[in-house]
Order: sequence, then C-alpha cells, then structure tokens
Amino acid sequence: MKAQEPVMRPTEDYAAMKKLAVESGLEEGTLIHIISSFGFYDGSELIGCAALRQEKEVYSLECLAVRERFRYQGLGSRLVATIEKDAKARGAKRLWALARAPNFFKRMGYRGAGNGQEAGPSLTSCANCPQFRRDCSPEVLLKDL
Ligand SMILES: CC(C)(COP(=O)(O)OP(=O)(O)OC[C@H]1O[C@@H](n2cnc3c(N)ncnc32)[C@H](O)[C@@H]1OP(=O)(O)O)[C@@H](O)C(=O)NCCC(=O)NCCS
Repeated sequence: MKAQEPVMRPTEDYAAMKKLAVESGLEEGTLIHIISSFGFYDGSELIGCAALRQEKEVYSLECLAVRERFRYQGLGSRLVATIEKDAKARGAKRLWALARAPNFFKRMGYRGAGNGQEAGPSLTSCANCPQFRRDCSPEVLLKDL
C-alpha cells in the first residue's frame, strides 16, 4: 500500500515548530509577531513548517524547515507559496526572508534588496549567533507579491 502524502494545514504548535527548526539547523527563534503558520504533517508528526511574521508594514517569512528525509519533494516550495498567498491576502505588497538558504529563495523569485527599498529585517540579529558566517551565510531577500 502506498504511504500517505504529508498533509498541509494551519498550525499554532510553536513548540513543535521550534523543535523542527532547531533540528533542521536553524537557530532557536522566538516566533514573536507571528500572524499565521502552516505545517506539513506525516500522520501526527510535524515534518515541515513556515510562519508569517508581521511587524508594522514589514511582512517576513520565518521558521521555514522541512525534515531531512522529506526534502527535495517540493514541500518547502509549497510552504513558501502558501505563506506568500496568505501575506498577499492580508495586504502585503512584498515578503521578506532572512534567508539562510539564499539559493533556494532565489529560485523562487526572491532578490536582494536594492538601495532605496523599504527597510526589512536586518542581519544585526544574527551577529550574536554562533552559526553566523560559520555554518550560515544568510542574505536579506525580498519578493514583490
Ligand atoms: C530549505 C528547505 C526548507 C527546502 O525544503 P525542500 O522541501 O527540500 O524544498 P523543495 O523540495 O521545495 O525544493 C525546491 C527547489 O529548491 C532546491 N533546493 C532545496 N533546498 C535547497 C538549498 N538549501 N539550497 C539551494 N537549493 C535548494 C531543490 O533542489 C528544488 O529545486 P528543483 O525544483 O529544481 O528540484 C530545506 O532544505 C530545509 O529545511 N533546510 C534546512 C533549514 C533551512 O535552511 N531553512 C531555510 C531558512 S531561511
């Protein structure tokens, strides 16, 4: 019998999201200012997640992670597309990502912020992270929605 495909649904299980993010190599985030989040479930196990953060007019994608054995099956792209659609429905004109996998985001149409762009998230929050510029070379990217 064929195994069931993972199913995406809204989630507010921040504890499971943080655990998945950390186990995927992301730094432990605080998940503040989150206005929506989605997870892929394999049965009851959260195996993919992404969240939408809003701070004033700045919308950003946070906590994107897919459990290693489920990668390269399109789940990450579907999570990003869902967050983009949700952000747009809420009135966002652009979506920011502090991307530690910049090439993944560039393939999805994200680009570096040019001069004169509205300010988005900054890398200053990364400065104290032990991974910064060791295991992680993040870029601030954005996509017009
Ligand atoms: C980044 C991540 C979420 C991608 O998830 P995924 O489910 O494997 O992504 P997809 O299957 O939708 O991949 C889409 C495309 O991006 C490519 N891709 C996936 N991960 C990539 C990466 N880290 N760098 C560059 N390209 C990547 C895939 O090859 C695929 O290309 P294709 O369509 O030509 O085959 C996953 O690798 C992950 O959880 N990484 C660790 C945590 C992390 O870095 N999160 C990002 C935080 S900003």
